[in-house]
Amino acid sequence: MDKTQLPKTVTVVDHPLVLHKLTLMRDKHTPSAVFRQLLREISLLLAYEVARDLPMTTQTIETPLAEMEAPILKGKKLVIVSILRAGNGLLEGMLDLMPSARVGHIGIYREHDTLTPVEYYFKIPAGGEARDFFVLDPMLATGGSAVDAVTALKRAGAQRIRFLCLVASPDGVRRLLGAHPDVPVYAAALDRTLNDKGYILPGLGDAGDRLFGTR
Ligand code: PRP
Ligand code: URA
Repeated sequence: MDKTQLPKTVTVVDHPLVLHKLTLMRDKHTPSAVFRQLLREISLLLAYEVARDLPMTTQTIETPLAEMEAPILKGKKLVIVSILRAGNGLLEGMLDLMPSARVGHIGIYREHDTLTPVEYYFKIPAGGEARDFFVLDPMLATGGSAVDAVTALKRAGAQRIRFLCLVASPDGVRRLLGAHPDVPVYAAALDRTLNDKGYILPGLGDAGDRLFGTR
């Protein structure tokens, strides 16, 4: 799957700053502290793109010189949902740009041998029907975790969901679109394939371990 074959609901945010920072993150010699900082910086750039089509309205305000109908975001507050653990690496930067967003957390890990996702935590703000959800996870590998997270959000009432990751595999994109065709997907890179342990190639390794120095 190359970029020209992607459906309209998939956006690869291949801005030069994103690509440069991602290259530094992929490098196995990059230490955790730098990896964390780069992910935070990239999340600001991804946030800009993922928020591009948020619904707008206008409000009458007075500038020091005149009254005007000025554009503002419409509707209830946004919800940023971090898929634990690695989603937290994208969360702070997103909150820098959207400081009044509510935050949800979904705990999911992949069972080592089967790669089956296991959900262990779920907490999101009330009133999901009327909110826009941005779901964050740096890695979309087999797609199992993302599919389960979105399914759980829909079950809890969420209707407008966008999925935001750093590196996606073709299998992961296909599986997420197959299960949830209404969910737009944003990624900084679409990588080649998965290895036999379900890791993205070339990828950047285990995002949680690299973020938190657990290996
Ligand atoms: C990683 C990653 C995703 C998942 C992607 O989490 O952060 O959540 O794998 O893989 P998938 O698309 O094949 O489901 P991991 O299972 O390592 O959990 P952790 O962040 O708690 O270490
Ligand atoms: N999870 C990760 O953290 N990295 C991968 O490459 C695949 C799943």
